Amino acid sequence: MIQLKLDIDQVFGFIPKEKIFDLNQQVVTSYRKIYNKTGAGADFLGWVDLPSQTTDEFIRHLSDHAAELREKSEVFVVVGIGGSYLGARAVIESMTHHFSALINKQTPHIVYAGQNISEEYLADLLDLLDIKHYSMVVISKSGTTTEPAIAFRVLRAHLERKYGVAEARKRIVAITDKSRGALKQVADSEGYRSYVVPDDVGGRYSVLTPVGLLPIAVAGIDIHELIGGARKMEAASRAVNKMYGNPIALYAATRQALYHSGKTTEIMVNYEPRLFYLTEWWKQLYGESEGKEHKGIFPAGVGFTTDLHSMGQYIQEGLRNIFETVISVEHATRELRVPAADTDLDQLNYIASKRLSEANLMAEFGTTLAHVDGGVPNIRIQLPAINADAIGQLIYFFEMGCALSGYMLGVNPFDQPGVEAYKKNMFALLGKAGFEDQTAALKERLKGKI
Ligand code: PA5
Repeated sequence: MIQLKLDIDQVFGFIPKEKIFDLNQQVVTSYRKIYNKTGAGADFLGWVDLPSQTTDEFIRHLSDHAAELREKSEVFVVVGIGGSYLGARAVIESMTHHFSALINKQTPHIVYAGQNISEEYLADLLDLLDIKHYSMVVISKSGTTTEPAIAFRVLRAHLERKYGVAEARKRIVAITDKSRGALKQVADSEGYRSYVVPDDVGGRYSVLTPVGLLPIAVAGIDIHELIGGARKMEAASRAVNKMYGNPIALYAATRQALYHSGKTTEIMVNYEPRLFYLTEWWKQLYGESEGKEHKGIFPAGVGFTTDLHSMGQYIQEGLRNIFETVISVEHATRELRVPAADTDLDQLNYIASKRLSEANLMAEFGTTLAHVDGGVPNIRIQLPAINADAIGQLIYFFEMGCALSGYMLGVNPFDQPGVEAYKKNMFALLGKAGFEDQTAALKERLKGKI
């Protein structure tokens, strides 16, 4: 049984119910394209039955390997970018103690590299790696992405200096294509332990492959439970391929109806700081899948109540092209109450002995109603708690919701042609062979700047 619930009551003041339910036929058609593999990008539908196809034996194998890596690592570096990093980070940060780096000595501290080209960032990371035992996983489906390739070259040299080449080889895991790409060649020639990113699973849909599962397991999170949650959502989705009784389809249809009514920005809202990277993962999934052919909802994210003190004004009274989707967590796993005070100088005795989660929930309801009054429709996704099972459900919910949304919008939700434009310019400016033709023209446009 899935525990995730969807509430769209706060949308009906903006668009009539029928406008959403009229989209049922589009939902049915989109589901057919997905399950029959007849839509655009049909070669990239491997994620659809990934949870049910992932065997318990493979999960055990990954967990055992992760335990070995944990043994020898105070720090574990995940090298990757985009879909080869955000999923792991989303799950790890959603279930890791906020201050684990300072108080947890049992599980390696997970850090990230290759998600930018900042010299400052990588130099700081090396300071940490100088004084900690570490190992790393390098992840790139294509095996040719510049950011992780640069970081890996730097980190590999550091690791080899620190431990010697033979031990460094035991501390590096590669996750890449089964046969293509520079990373595959390095991994083969160095004899790194490797995992394959399946051909039919694109980067941003790959969190439930070894791309996400290995780092998540190294962080000490139960990947069996995570896959279990995703399996439940996969089964629920397969059982009902229409809008009625299917929260995924209802989410896709609701955002589609809102988009057509002029709500072109969706703000993902959380009230738990540990969900920050889940929003980042969602932003990539939806932004890269829908934003093409000059169409698509712009995915944004905020963390409340923090951002109510920075973005709240805009959301309440700015341009009315936005809607919010709130991830609301029913049960906090820790208990903390507001203490009573004799003097009540801070005037908080009216909430004395109440849990902070109750204050957080009232902040959520108060904010939702204020924003609805201000012209911002609200979709609410309710999670029972933040645990591996619920996060697994949520991941599959968003993946399938994204595929349905893309097809309903009339785009291929599995390609990302626009990502190449910056790369070509960067290669030409850095002098990569094969890009010489563009170099002069680009330098002319940057005259006086480089
Ligand atoms: O979703 C995608 O395909 C992209 O975001 C990729 O994951 C990202 O560009 C990294 O690519 P790669 O894994 O090939 O290094």
